[in-house]
Amino acid sequence: MQKVIITGGTGYIGSHTVVEFQNAGFEVVVIDNLSNSIIEVLDGIEKITGIRPIFYQVDVTEQKDLEIVFQKHGDAVAIIHFAAYKAVGESVQEPLKYYHNNIQGLLNVLSNMLKYDIPNLVFSSSCTVYGQPDKLPVTEDTPVVKPESPYGNTKKINEEIIDDTINSSENLCAISLRYFNPIGAHTSAYIGELPLGVPDNLLPYITQTAIGLRKELSVFGDNYNTPDGTAIRDYINVCDLAKAHVFAVKRLLNNVLKYEIFNIGTGKGSSVMEIIKAFETSTGQKLNYKIVDRRAGDIEQVWADTSKANKVLGWKAEVSLDETVKSAWEWEKKVKRD
Ligand code: UD1
Repeated sequence: MQKVIITGGTGYIGSHTVVEFQNAGFEVVVIDNLSNSIIEVLDGIEKITGIRPIFYQVDVTEQKDLEIVFQKHGDAVAIIHFAAYKAVGESVQEPLKYYHNNIQGLLNVLSNMLKYDIPNLVFSSSCTVYGQPDKLPVTEDTPVVKPESPYGNTKKINEEIIDDTINSSENLCAISLRYFNPIGAHTSAYIGELPLGVPDNLLPYITQTAIGLRKELSVFGDNYNTPDGTAIRDYINVCDLAKAHVFAVKRLLNNVLKYEIFNIGTGKGSSVMEIIKAFETSTGQKLNYKIVDRRAGDIEQVWADTSKANKVLGWKAEVSLDETVKSAWEWEKKVKRD
C-alpha cells in the first residue's frame, strides 16, 4: 500500500482529502497541531472509510518534532501540505504570525523531503494569487500579482519557494493546486467545515444564520459591476476539490514534469445572491440577510478556467452547486457545539 503524509489533515479541506486518499487505497499519515481543528475529526473519517489514519499532533513549524514523523515515514510516496493559517483579515492584523507559520512550515516540510528522499509534494495554493484579473476566466497563465493580504502573499511566496527548491534538486517534484472557493461537506455529514468563532467565509455564515447562531447575513456590497451587483466567485465542492489531490499524486507518480500548477474550480462563477437563492431552494430554509458596504480587500469577480486540470490531470468537478450547498446545511444540522 502506498503511503502519503497529509499535513493539516484534520482541517476542513485536509480531512476530506484524507477520506479520498483512503478511498483510493492509500495509507494516510496525518500531521496536525489541532490549532484550528479538533481530534474528533478522526472519528468522522473513521466512520466514513472504516480506517483511522495514523495521527501525529505536531506543529509543522517545529522542525525537530516534524522530523521524527518523516524519519518514521520516509517510505511515503508524497506529502500533501495543507497546514497553514487562512484567515485573510487576521493576516492583515498579524502579518508576522502568517509569514512565520505558513512559510516556516513549508521550509520544514521541504527540507525533510530532501533529507528523507520523499520525492513528491502537493501544495495547497489559492486563486488569491491572481488578484482581480483583467480577463475572465483565469487560466494558469494569468499573471500572478502581489496579493491583497499577507495570507495571499504567503501562497505566492510559497509557490516560488517550491519552484526554486525543485530546480535545485534532481528528485523533487511538485504540483500546486490553486483552489477557488471550497464549500460544502461530505455527504455522510460526518465531516465538514468547523470554523472557530464567527465565520469569515460565506457558506458557514449562511448555515450558522439559518440554524439561528447568527442574526442575519451581511451581503458585502450590491454595487459591483456584475449582473445582480453582488460579487462573483467560483464555489467548488470540497469533496471534488479533495479528489483533485489524488489525481495530482497519481500524476506525480508518473514522473511527467518537475513542477506544475492547476486551477481547481468548477469553471462557473456564482454571485453572493445566487448562493443565497441556491441555499434557500435546496434546503427550504429562508435566510435573513441585509445588504451592507463592500468588505475591504474583496475583489469583484473571479472564476476558473479549469481546462488544464480537466485535460492534463483528468479531473473534473462533478457535484452541483445545489447538492453542495445542501451538504453544508446537513453538516450544520449535525454539528454539536458544546
Ligand atoms: C478568501 C480569499 C481566499 C481564501 C479564502 C479562505 C481573497 C481574494 N480570497 O476568499 O484566497 O482561500 O478567503 O478564507 O483573499 N461574503 C458576504 N458576506 C459574508 C461573507 C462573505 O457577502 O458574511 C461575500 C464576500 O464579500 C465574497 C464572497 O461572499 O464576495 C465569498 O467570500 P469568502 O467566503 O470570504 O471567500 P473569499 O473572500 O472569496
